[in-house]
Amino acid sequence: MPLVPMRVLLDHAAENDYGLAAFNVNNMEQIQAILAAAEETDSPVIIQASRGARSYTNDAYLRHLMLAAAELHPSTPIAMHQDHGNSPETCLSAIEQGFTSVMMDGSLKADGKTPADFEYNADVTRKVVDAAHAQGVTVEGELGCLGGVEDGHGAGLSAEEAMQHLTDPDQAEEFVALTGVDALAVAIGTSHGAYKFTEKPTGDVLVMSVIEEIHRRLPNTHLVMHGSSSVPQELLEIIRQYGGEMKQTYGVPVEEIRRGIKNGVRKINVDTDNRLAITGAIRKVFATNKGEFDPRKYLGVSREAMKQVCVDRMVAFGQAGNASKIKPVTCKEMVCFYQRAGCGARDHALVG
Ligand code: G3H
Ligand code: 13P
Ligand code: ZN
Repeated sequence: MPLVPMRVLLDHAAENDYGLAAFNVNNMEQIQAILAAAEETDSPVIIQASRGARSYTNDAYLRHLMLAAAELHPSTPIAMHQDHGNSPETCLSAIEQGFTSVMMDGSLKADGKTPADFEYNADVTRKVVDAAHAQGVTVEGELGCLGGVEDGHGAGLSAEEAMQHLTDPDQAEEFVALTGVDALAVAIGTSHGAYKFTEKPTGDVLVMSVIEEIHRRLPNTHLVMHGSSSVPQELLEIIRQYGGEMKQTYGVPVEEIRRGIKNGVRKINVDTDNRLAITGAIRKVFATNKGEFDPRKYLGVSREAMKQVCVDRMVAFGQAGNASKIKPVTCKEMVCFYQRAGCGARDHALVG
């Protein structure tokens, strides 16, 4: 089936009380790992590419890899999403490349570092919503700032500083009314990258009350959790065992994410866990077979290791078993949906 707008998947998840992992990709093996996991578990998928991923792969390679994924997996609904678009131009160029969903991250200025004010954020996000919805493409916005830095994207806030920039429920309500976004990324104490928490989380690591309050006020807006890797200790251990250096660190427990899903979280961003799985698998090959120089031998096992992480998340978030239940909808059909619904598109569930 053709790539589907992300909104279709989020609506289905909302109506059936589950969440969808959104996995970052940078190469063919990562895309293959996600699709293999999706086939095994009958899961709909969100595949996302950051600006860094787009420049690493070159848009043309990425576009054709995604078309290959759709061709080879005709019964898997796949949404292709721009992760952390830093400007309307980035989002528009993603739409030109066939992405069916974009994130306009106006919580930071276009440099991807400086926290932006509410007016700037609402203004750039509204512009993207107007252009994207006219083509049936889904839009995710972000309010509040996460901690950590990923490849130049992120305010570089420490975990403590990030706690001062949590999403304000009053502002969330106003932001959604002003912009008409389909989905809203909220800051509730997560951060990007492997180094999230130095102490083992003992429950209540996230400010769940913020999610609960935003969901209460905006029951029809799909909430998004960034920085949601769980940093499994066994993956850190494999990296260390085979010569890597990883300081002690902890991620977001899957149980906390499931609490979020009960309160309106529909998209959960996971990148770091796959990076850890890939790195550990490759290190193991290099450490145990020093004569190996066939890339298929180490890229193949890294693909398998990533697939296992994807299967685990798909099952834990509840998206497993849902691919075959989703009626495919094209971006063209979504144009009519947004036209009918006007700015209040978010108030109308699409998929029954
Ligand atoms: O939020 C960022 C994602 O983990 C992507 O990271 O910018 O290094 O590709 P990246
Ligand atoms: P992690 O670094 O926790 O995997 O988060 C990824 C992310 O939020 C991508 O936007
Ligand atoms: Zn993110």
